[in-house]
Amino acid sequence: MLKRTIKSVGDSLRRIQQTRYFSAVPTYFHRDSPENNADTPFQFTPESMETIHKIIAKYPSNYKQSAVIPLLYVAQDQNNNWIPLSAMNEIARIVNINPMRVYEVATFYTMFNREPVGKFHLQVCGTTPCLVRGSDKIIKALEDHLGIHEGDSTPDGLFTITEVECLACCANAPMLQVNNQEVYEDLTPENVIELCHQLQDGSAQVGPQNGRNQSEGEGGRTSLFNPEDIKPVCRDFGQLKAEIEERRRQASQ
Ligand code: FES
Repeated sequence: MLKRTIKSVGDSLRRIQQTRYFSAVPTYFHRDSPENNADTPFQFTPESMETIHKIIAKYPSNYKQSAVIPLLYVAQDQNNNWIPLSAMNEIARIVNINPMRVYEVATFYTMFNREPVGKFHLQVCGTTPCLVRGSDKIIKALEDHLGIHEGDSTPDGLFTITEVECLACCANAPMLQVNNQEVYEDLTPENVIELCHQLQDGSAQVGPQNGRNQSEGEGGRTSLFNPEDIKPVCRDFGQLKAEIEERRRQASQ
């Protein structure tokens, strides 16, 4: 009995360890590594410090900690798209809070990378609308093409694949975002491979990859062009006013 319980606990732990939360970038735990530990040299540049002073000035002096998220962005922009532990400690020092408060924020949001990522960080949305439109097949196509698993980077440092939550382009699902900036939509397992080549040669076009105009439906614009709907339904306020006045007149008699 005891043996069975130990085996079942062991199996559960193994399954948990296999999930992306334990194996992928970003991880929810910090593990010291030669390039990422409390002693990794990190200093904000004078330009970054200028930006930081401007950001902090937007908040009351006793609420400097509200600047944690923008400061994490400054650190990430300065540091090749990732934030070492020492940068988080520096942010804590600047806004005068316990470092744990910065770690909590950085580990919660997937836009903050706490390990080095590739030059093209492919953030593939895996939330419901994208999933029902095949985001799992997009990830699989990328994994096969790049020879890595979700959460990993290619050895040449060019690509990292990360599954993220909704990026607000659901109408053009499935989609991915690169480096927290541009979005590429209407993906298929074929055009996403083409997109990888285009990112490398600089010819990638932001937006839908199937030629559609923004978020138009497959049949083009229809909603405001249906002849039956040309006239918007409007209330006739002149008539309404006349009715109200008539009711008042009758009530006063
Ligand atoms: S669900 Fe993917 S962008 Fe919203």
